[in-house]
Amino acid sequence: MKLRAGSHFSTICIHAGQEPDPTTGAIITPIYQTSTYVQDELGRHKGYEYARTQNPTRAALEANVAAIESGKAGFAFASGMAAIGAIATMLTSGDHVVVTDNTYGGTFRLFDKVLTRYQIDFSYVDTSRLELIEQALRPATKMLFVETPTNPVLRLTDLARTAELARARNVRLVVDNTFASPYVQRPLELGADMVVHSTTKYLNGHSDSIGGIVVATRDDDIEWLRFIQNAEGAILSPMDSWLVLRGTKTLSVRMAQHNLNGQAIAEFLATHPKVQKVIYPGLPDHPQHDLARRQMNGFGGMVSFDVGSFEGARRVCNRVQLMALAESLGGVETLISHPASMTHASVPPERRAEIGLTESMVRISAGIEDPDDLIADLRQALD
Ligand SMILES: Cc1ncc(COP(=O)(O)O)c(C=O)c1O
Repeated sequence: MKLRAGSHFSTICIHAGQEPDPTTGAIITPIYQTSTYVQDELGRHKGYEYARTQNPTRAALEANVAAIESGKAGFAFASGMAAIGAIATMLTSGDHVVVTDNTYGGTFRLFDKVLTRYQIDFSYVDTSRLELIEQALRPATKMLFVETPTNPVLRLTDLARTAELARARNVRLVVDNTFASPYVQRPLELGADMVVHSTTKYLNGHSDSIGGIVVATRDDDIEWLRFIQNAEGAILSPMDSWLVLRGTKTLSVRMAQHNLNGQAIAEFLATHPKVQKVIYPGLPDHPQHDLARRQMNGFGGMVSFDVGSFEGARRVCNRVQLMALAESLGGVETLISHPASMTHASVPPERRAEIGLTESMVRISAGIEDPDDLIADLRQALD
């Protein structure tokens, strides 16, 4: 099974990194649930010595996602946070990092509560404004860590222009592409050095695994990531690697439906009298709609809206019947959440206010159900 150069996205998703099993011909890469590998003789083995270091199921997933993201190599970790933690080990004391101010709370916690103990300095800036990134850069800046769109206010960063800036200053650009997915957004093709995902979300897509992956392009980064994955050992298990590998096969068709459902829900909410504001990059009134059209392929499955009061938000979250009230995102089933009291409860209120995250905001991760059923559910919850 050979992928031709120039194969298209859905073909890459289904086939990249996967060959029929050499012993049986099994079309699906098996779950190599083993801790070690028998060697032929002293000093001669089949390329596998110990399963923290190498595992064929994990290797297949890593090659698959590296190809999907147009990168050179991938490294899969036990969670999205473990993947971000591995990237963080590229920093040393005295280094400075510029981070999207509305970054995922777990990323902020790792940077703010752990890495600052090692004399690494962070500036949190609104990376949707290039001039603020430029102002925040210092001689000691080694990394720009960008999330776009952000959660839950869906603010965008112009990746091509940010990459130009990073390159000119010799700063690594890392993009957390979890929210968009590689179907919707292509950071490495726009000039980023590394992409990170919580595979827990769209890549796996079925809400049944926790994992993370880093895809890199530079040889020195790849060498370090391979070293640190083995040195720290926060690897993705064979079973989880297999689940994500199964998930990526349908990434293309799932994301097309997530895009359709996100747009349909946003358009419905925009017309509902009880909804004061809808935030969705696919709506013409999104302040960065033009950038979204340039940078994204569809606008994703995440929609946020404001119903004017905490009580109103509480009622909507409690009254939906088809949608599930839960944290997380990116699965085939639609989830609803109240960011201020759930995912962003640990973010100080003044910080929430700065980024426009109100108590009356509700977030939806649109699944791939029939959009009419989702809209009917929202309508009865709002009415
Ligand atoms: C944008 C983003 N990055 C990283 C993470 C962390 O991933 P995980 O929960 O798999 O550790 C999350 C989790 O919600 C996320 O939303």
